[in-house]
Amino acid sequence: MKKVEIHPDAVERVKKFTINDPQLGFGKYVAPIMIQALYDHGEWQRFDLLPYGPLQLDPCSKVLHYGQEIFEGMKVFRHPDDSIHMFRPEMNARRFNLSARRMAMPEIPEEDYLNACSTISAYCKHLIPKRLGESLYLRPFMIATEVGLGIKPSKQFLFIIVASPSGSYFAGDAVKVYIERDDIRCAPGGIGFAKTGGNYAASLNSYAKTIQLGCDQTMWLDSVEHKYIEEMSGMNFFAVIDNKVVTPTLTDTILDGVTRKSIIDIARAEKIEVEERKLSIDEVLKAVQEGRCTEAFVCGTAAVVAPIASFMDKDQTVYKLRDSQGKIGMQLREKLIAIQAGRFDAPQGWTYPV
Ligand code: COI
Repeated sequence: MKKVEIHPDAVERVKKFTINDPQLGFGKYVAPIMIQALYDHGEWQRFDLLPYGPLQLDPCSKVLHYGQEIFEGMKVFRHPDDSIHMFRPEMNARRFNLSARRMAMPEIPEEDYLNACSTISAYCKHLIPKRLGESLYLRPFMIATEVGLGIKPSKQFLFIIVASPSGSYFAGDAVKVYIERDDIRCAPGGIGFAKTGGNYAASLNSYAKTIQLGCDQTMWLDSVEHKYIEEMSGMNFFAVIDNKVVTPTLTDTILDGVTRKSIIDIARAEKIEVEERKLSIDEVLKAVQEGRCTEAFVCGTAAVVAPIASFMDKDQTVYKLRDSQGKIGMQLREKLIAIQAGRFDAPQGWTYPV
């Protein structure tokens, strides 16, 4: 395993750093330290814990032109005995390497990835919130730094982790969803399953429309028939139809969410029936109108679980959910939060002590 070199000025800076804000929000604050590792000559060179600061990038770095970039989102929680634990970090390590392979980037050995995440978390221990539902959000990412305008995979990369003490992604109200019937986010054989900036960039134009129409999140449909639900711009989708929890089956156009998987596992352990299957938007809207789809929710690392209030279609027809506070979704959310915060026994391997 590669040792992380600790820079004393980083340690000094983080020790002095405090946040006094009852409204942490999401991604508003960032710890004054970061992990940085360089990849060159076919291998990872060194891992450093450095003061947080701007990067010096050559304007011809490949990431700036061709988007060769991947990232992850992970959380670290404080337990009642004051110990700190990452939530299912091996899943993020594996997904990071899956994204890396698709984007022609080097993998990071899982033990180096986990060690780097543990190291920054340990130095940020005093910044990990105590309030239930809050955490230290880690954002590991990798960018292509080779200089040159030729379109070919970079041979040099930078891996960085920044850490953000965070609360919930959504301000509190149930989410209003806008159904994107025209644009698509990704296509079969493309990069939809990879956590890479391009998938999020592809959602931004519709985000502007979504907000303008008074909604919060864009719902993406499949690119072939524009019919089957895939995911939201930054989170997965669930609906409760005929008392069953239904979520789209994973394909290569859907991100394999760690929270999605955890919610399925928790629901099954609670004896709630879960179906992973193709789910068309028209089936959901019909079930909403007939009162058979009582609730729906989104979930993701940042979002945790948030209930959906309504769907808005292209013609601006609004379909309101009967239970906009989502009884089943909230039951699953509470269980997940309790497990993450060490207030309920976690299934094997779900919490990873730092
Ligand atoms: C996450 O949930 O970690 C993401 O990367 C999605 C984004 C909405 C913050």
